[in-house]
Amino acid sequence: MQHDIASVLIDRDRIAQRVEAIAEEIRIDHERMAGPGVEPEITLVPILTGSIIFVADLVRMLPLRMQIRLISFSSYPGKSTSAQAGTFQQALSTLPESLEGAHVLLIDDILDSGQTLRVVGDAIRERRPASLKSCVLLRKLRSDAMAAPVDYVCFDIPDEFVVGYGLDYDDHYRNLPDIVTLKPEVVASREAES
Ligand code: IMP
Ligand code: MG
Repeated sequence: MQHDIASVLIDRDRIAQRVEAIAEEIRIDHERMAGPGVEPEITLVPILTGSIIFVADLVRMLPLRMQIRLISFSSYPGKSTSAQAGTFQQALSTLPESLEGAHVLLIDDILDSGQTLRVVGDAIRERRPASLKSCVLLRKLRSDAMAAPVDYVCFDIPDEFVVGYGLDYDDHYRNLPDIVTLKPEVVASREAES
C-alpha cells in the first residue's frame, strides 16, 4: 500500500489542527443560533463511506449535544476516478422521514462536482429542518466545486484524485492517516483490470 503513494498532500498533523479549528467554528455558530441560555443541539448527517474518519475526529472535538444519522451515497462507483450518476434512492431511503426543527450539519469527505451535496441537501430541506449547514474535509479547486454552496471547508486542494483519511480508490487506501496522491501507474493498472 505504501508503495502506491506518489506524494503526501496533507499530513496527519495539519489535518488534526484544521479539524479542531473547524469544530470550534461549528460550535460557535451553533451556540449563536441557539441563542443565550439555550443549549444547542445538532443533527449530523455524515455521508458514508468517505467521511467516516473525518467525522470520528470531528465529533470528539465538538462538545455539543448531538445525534448522528449516517447515510450512504456513491457517485464514484468502484474503480472510476470521476463522478457517475449516483444511486440517489438508496441514499435518501436512510434519511429520517422528518427532520422538522433539527439543526442539521451535512458532512462529506470531498466536494468535487457538487452533485452529492446538492442532491442530499435538497432531500434534507424537504424534511423541514430548522437549519441546514454543510461541511467538507476537502474541496477541489475547480469551478463547479467553488461555485457550490458550502459552510465549512477544511482544505482547498488542486483538482487531483486523492486518497487516505477516509477517501478511497476502489474502496482501498481509506486507512492511510495522511491525504495522498497515487502513482499514475497504480491508477492506470487498476482501471485496466476493471
Ligand atoms: P461530487 O458529488 O462530485 O461532489 O463528489 C463527491 C464524492 O465523490 C465524494 O463523496 C467522494 O466519495 C468522491 N470523490 C470525489 N473526488 C474524489 C477523490 O479525489 N478521491 C476519492 N474520492 C473522491
Ligand atoms: Mg468514494
